[in-house]
Amino acid sequence: MYKIPLSDQGDAIPTFRMKICCIGAGYVGGPTMAMIAHKCVDHTVTVVDINQARIDAWNSDKLPVFEPGLDEIVSGARGKNLFFSTDVDTAIREAEIIFLSVNTPTKTYGVGAGRAADLRYIEKCARKIAEVAEDDKIVVEKSTLPVRTAESVKRILESNSNGRQFQILSNPEFLAEGTAMEDLEAPDRVLIGGDQTPEGKAAIQKLVDVYATWVPRERVITTNLWSSELSKLTANAFLAQRISSINAISALCEATEANVDEVAHAIGTDSRIGPKFLKASVGFGGSCFQKDILNLVYLCEHFGLPEVAAYWNSVIAMNDYQKHRFSHRVISAMFNTVSDKKIAVLGFAFKKDTNDTRESAAIYICKDLLEEQANLAIYDPKVEVAQIQRDLGIDADNEYVSYCQDPYEATKGAHAILILTEWDEFKTLDFQKIYEQMQLPAFLFDGRNLLDLEALREIGFEASGIGKG
Ligand code: UDX
Ligand code: UDX
Repeated sequence: MYKIPLSDQGDAIPTFRMKICCIGAGYVGGPTMAMIAHKCVDHTVTVVDINQARIDAWNSDKLPVFEPGLDEIVSGARGKNLFFSTDVDTAIREAEIIFLSVNTPTKTYGVGAGRAADLRYIEKCARKIAEVAEDDKIVVEKSTLPVRTAESVKRILESNSNGRQFQILSNPEFLAEGTAMEDLEAPDRVLIGGDQTPEGKAAIQKLVDVYATWVPRERVITTNLWSSELSKLTANAFLAQRISSINAISALCEATEANVDEVAHAIGTDSRIGPKFLKASVGFGGSCFQKDILNLVYLCEHFGLPEVAAYWNSVIAMNDYQKHRFSHRVISAMFNTVSDKKIAVLGFAFKKDTNDTRESAAIYICKDLLEEQANLAIYDPKVEVAQIQRDLGIDADNEYVSYCQDPYEATKGAHAILILTEWDEFKTLDFQKIYEQMQLPAFLFDGRNLLDLEALREIGFEASGIGKG
């Protein structure tokens, strides 16, 4: 469990006081603002959201977002210099700096459907700021946005300015869920883009000063607006590309005698390649990778670069292939039928240490197996049952899916176990006990290469991982 060193709290007390507001109390806005409030004790940070239930949860003991270390930070600052509210207008009016951290999902309608980012929430926020602001504001894009979105935000604000000055900054968030507090506390870098005019530079400096309270100055990179916006999309595209690359090789490993973990280790020791993000898996998920790459693809097409668009699109195509390849492997190993067989699904979140399921590979795999009429017994330590039902598009009384309190219940009488999220607790399960209560042959498909397959085979499991022949 990640702990924020208490000695860091307030080490460098800022010499100025400011009111900061953030619109959007989600996975990004909530943790990011909690860290700013924790580190900058003189600033007042108000996080607003139109969703009353979400704000109520932020003000309760059960936060809407599960992140190791988040509870401690929020309870330490809430009510002192960290506030959660639905009063968007007041928060905007009082703040000097306004962060936009609303969601920017892939468009589901009209031009660019399925690829372009839906910017209606960002636009609504810009119009709201124009409507209620009484003085100058610095507006910071925290949401991941297509390149040149700042232009639209700026035009909306400027055409309604009535003498007020608005500066737009881009300050993309690089935190990864599950390690958000660590990433926020010690980021590899903080990126701030803004206009290269004297006013733009002054606004950049104000935001630099906020982060410089705890981030070493050399890690705060400043660029022009467009480089900053594009860097976020590019960073996510490169990270996802590494996963798709190793997942592509995992298919080849399964066809040969190679072992993808050994290949990843061997190539990762080359300092030019590096060891991170080479873990073969059942496919990447999360709210960002697919959305941002689709967005990049759309931008490339818009700017008349079809070859570049096709190049990045293949990263997503490989990810789709990997998810369905896993389902097909399960079905084919189980004598080409899973109909009426109980399959224990361990893990539903898109990665460990989060309750987020957005784009989780588990959704796609469960849907594939439900189409084959399997009976799924799902266990995840943090994901709510109602969320799983929404993701699978099923009712509470669906007879093919049951939800379990623990892995032993899920695996009882099962024909197969699927490990779909790499939760640490799965590593220490009593697999001998589990084996004894399963149907034989007892299949185990480790979609995260988390377990010791040899040890499982010794118990008697028909165990297989990703990219292992
Ligand atoms: C979001 C974006 O998806 C991501 O691209 C960006 O980088 C950061 O913001 P996340 O925080 O994970 O990521 O999204 P989500 O958890 O959905 O939170 C967004 C919040 O904004 C929601 O609570 C929603 O109610 C709120 N919102 C949305 C508003 O308060 N006002 C609006 O007009 C729209
Ligand atoms: C990502 C980026 O890492 C972060 O910088 C950005 O701000 C938001 O998008 P996130 O989606 O929270 O963060 O998690 P990340 O750790 O990147 O994992 C994304 C997906 O890739 C998960 O499903 C994960 O299981 C998978 N993954 C990751 C792999 O399959 N293999 C790996 O080696 C690493």
